[in-house]
Amino acid sequence: MPIIRAPGAKAYVALLHQRVPEKKAQHAIFVAEFVSSFAERVGVDHDLAVTAGLLHDLCRTLENEEMLRRARAYGIVVQPWHEAKPNLLHGPVAAEEIRRELAVDDPDVYDAVYWHTTGRPRFCRLGQALYVADFAEPTRDYAEAARTRELLRREGFEAALRYAAEARLRFHRDTAVLDPTSAAFHAWVEEEFGA
Ligand SMILES: [Fe+2]
Ligand SMILES: [Fe+2]
Repeated sequence: MPIIRAPGAKAYVALLHQRVPEKKAQHAIFVAEFVSSFAERVGVDHDLAVTAGLLHDLCRTLENEEMLRRARAYGIVVQPWHEAKPNLLHGPVAAEEIRRELAVDDPDVYDAVYWHTTGRPRFCRLGQALYVADFAEPTRDYAEAARTRELLRREGFEAALRYAAEARLRFHRDTAVLDPTSAAFHAWVEEEFGA
């Protein structure tokens, strides 16, 4: 089913265009298309996948001060790595706004959007699917995205998830501020789905 027919999708796309630059809106639409293409195969509801995909980066371009202000206002635990790099809070802040402002009260959508940047141990299945789609949607042009898509096609979802978690951790290691949840997620994925 085209994503635009999913409940709420038209309004979410309109909201995206108000809240983020065109390139980020396009990315979100590609994530929603991609995640919905394999959602049901991996045990995830199609319409929830569309919702999470379209809305996950709703707060991606907030200024640092505003990100921290909203996180505190919503009662989100602000860690030292968030203070150093407030953009790490764009998932948690979006999860809160999706629930508060759009009345989307599904706990898996909340969990998936909240943790989409790092993953987390015991991440819900929708979150795992969003994580893979966010990393590897078809307009991502790094080699690791193509490899993740290939693994998804040829070896299945869990192979793609393991690869994406490992590759993303490698990307993060090269950055100055590391959220330790990324490493915890990678370790959990290996324990849960490793050979
Ligand atoms: Fe994001
Ligand atoms: Fe994203």
